[in-house]
Amino acid sequence: HPPNFQMEESFSLRRENCRAKGAGPGFKVAILGAAGGIGQPLSMLMKMNPLVSVLHLYDVVNTPGVTADISHMDTGAVVRSFLGQKQLEDALSGVDLVIIPAGVPRKPGMTRDDLFNINAGIVRTLCEGIAKCCPRAIVNLISNPVNSTVPIAAEVFKKAGTYDPKRLLGVTMLDVVRANTFVAEVLGLDPRQVDVPVVGGHAGVTILPLLSQVKPPSTFTPQETDYLTARIQNGGTEVVEAKAGAGSATLSMAYAAVKFADACLRGLNGDQGVIECAFVDSQVTELPFFASKVRLGRNGAEEIFPLGPLNEYERAGLEKAKKELAESIQKGVSFIKK
Ligand code: NAI
Repeated sequence: HPPNFQMEESFSLRRENCRAKGAGPGFKVAILGAAGGIGQPLSMLMKMNPLVSVLHLYDVVNTPGVTADISHMDTGAVVRSFLGQKQLEDALSGVDLVIIPAGVPRKPGMTRDDLFNINAGIVRTLCEGIAKCCPRAIVNLISNPVNSTVPIAAEVFKKAGTYDPKRLLGVTMLDVVRANTFVAEVLGLDPRQVDVPVVGGHAGVTILPLLSQVKPPSTFTPQETDYLTARIQNGGTEVVEAKAGAGSATLSMAYAAVKFADACLRGLNGDQGVIECAFVDSQVTELPFFASKVRLGRNGAEEIFPLGPLNEYERAGLEKAKKELAESIQKGVSFIKK
């Protein structure tokens, strides 16, 4: 350590105490996979969030550098680095919200399911840590394939006896962000004015935009519906191909993850009427997990909204989505149960 390390350390503790005593809410947030393509911009944006008082950055590589860099930003959150499996438990202790973008991303020609073998194990290890160290934390799971990693996390928590379905949320926000952008383009509107519910799951045909429920109320020609549905479902692949081997969406994903995490924190904070789409334990269909609009509160997803009226095109899409989703969910469950 440099000679003034201890002094810096004590100043940092002083600031953490000051922040803890200070007025207003402040939540402790951990990012697992914080040094990755998503993790770094996500860490930066969470450091800017006024609802965050302490930010724990955990990864198996490079967190000291990312933390040193981000800690110089003159925003309120205190940032701490945790490196390697031995520091996982410290990274998770006392945390209110855990965001997980750990794991390998797609390369051209790969489906999200091709990531299963590597990412399933990573998610299992991280969730075992959560069950042990912060079983009441809200979990935002980004690692793909989300359609399988969320069931994996649920099984790990069930095994540990800590499962609270309201607190486990698969992040499908990027599908909503893309849908808002692409629909706004077609309508000639500012994307900030547009709200598109996207339900189902987070892969290919399981991503089901409900264009009949777009706000502001809009109608689309059959060609526009086909174009928009396909573009929203393949938005991830569009980025994977453009990056040509360098990975998948990271910057728009970090933006979407922060938008979603901020909604979770506002819910924890007691704000009313916080509603976003997420992939959760659900009774909206006969499947055990499904993405739809949820109301976020002090306990996580406190209310899960039904799908609302679907048109014929969406009903056909729903059947396709459910078929694929059922298999992906089962694959996740058997990974832990086998
Ligand atoms: P990346 O490879 O750039 O970063 C992943 C990070 O995870 C690396 O820093 C790596 O060291 C870390 N990591 C690996 N094993 C770990 C472990 N056991 N514990 C903690 N950290 C570990 O990948 P990128 O682009 O950041 O993507 C991460 C994940 O997010 C991928 O699975 C990707 O498919 C997924 N993703 C999900 C989206 C969604 O909408 N839900 C959208 C885009 C990506």
